Amino acid sequence: MSRLIAMLYDRMMQGTELACLQQWRGALLANCYGRVLEIGAGTGASLPLYPPGIDELLVSEPDPAMRRQLQRRIDSTRVAFATALADYQGERLLVDDESVDCVVSSLVLCSVHNQAGTLTEIFRVLKPGGQLLFLEHVAAQEGTGRHRWQRLVEPLWKRVAGNCHLTRCTEQAIIEAGFELAQVQRESLRKVPPFVRPSIRGLARKPG
Ligand SMILES: C[S@@+](CC[C@H](N)C(=O)[O-])C[C@H]1O[C@@H](n2cnc3c(N)ncnc32)[C@H](O)[C@@H]1O
Repeated sequence: MSRLIAMLYDRMMQGTELACLQQWRGALLANCYGRVLEIGAGTGASLPLYPPGIDELLVSEPDPAMRRQLQRRIDSTRVAFATALADYQGERLLVDDESVDCVVSSLVLCSVHNQAGTLTEIFRVLKPGGQLLFLEHVAAQEGTGRHRWQRLVEPLWKRVAGNCHLTRCTEQAIIEAGFELAQVQRESLRKVPPFVRPSIRGLARKPG
């Protein structure tokens, strides 16, 4: 993402955060425990919403401009657990096999270059029984007008919005990576363009 997008990101997302995302993030993150890794953490919108009882949080963000905002958020947020910052891409998490209890991905699996590769990495670093907590915007149902719009707009959208894809079938990809889907909610994101609205959020487990 460009420096400009990184600077404006929180302002651009403010309406959506207030309308739904803050509430959804809080409810999802309440499931976190133990050692947690968040990928593509952006400006750190989730940071203040982690439950105080987790042991350790590793936030990673590959974009240098976003990472600077994230560092500021880490410095200004009082949390009860140890927090570290890394620059890992989702496709290459420099974390030991089976060393993490929970991985968090919010609005990231739309943007990674290799979604299947990222999910394989998440699966690798999770302990058996560990969980992926996801909140992602996804493809609309195929055959609908919205899906046609998504396909039309996607080539331009990817260029202006940091490689954000509109037509990824992320729920299916999570299952294909070997996870068991334990919870999924499908709901429209609010205060975003119609082609970004379809979303999923929930919890997938690495079989124990
Ligand atoms: C739409 S922002 C979401 C930020 C944050 N997760 C949130 O919920 O507000 C997408 C983020 O994914 C990051 N990203 C893009 N490609 C990535 C990759 N290959 N691996 C990890 N993160 C990536 C971007 O740098 C950006 O910070």
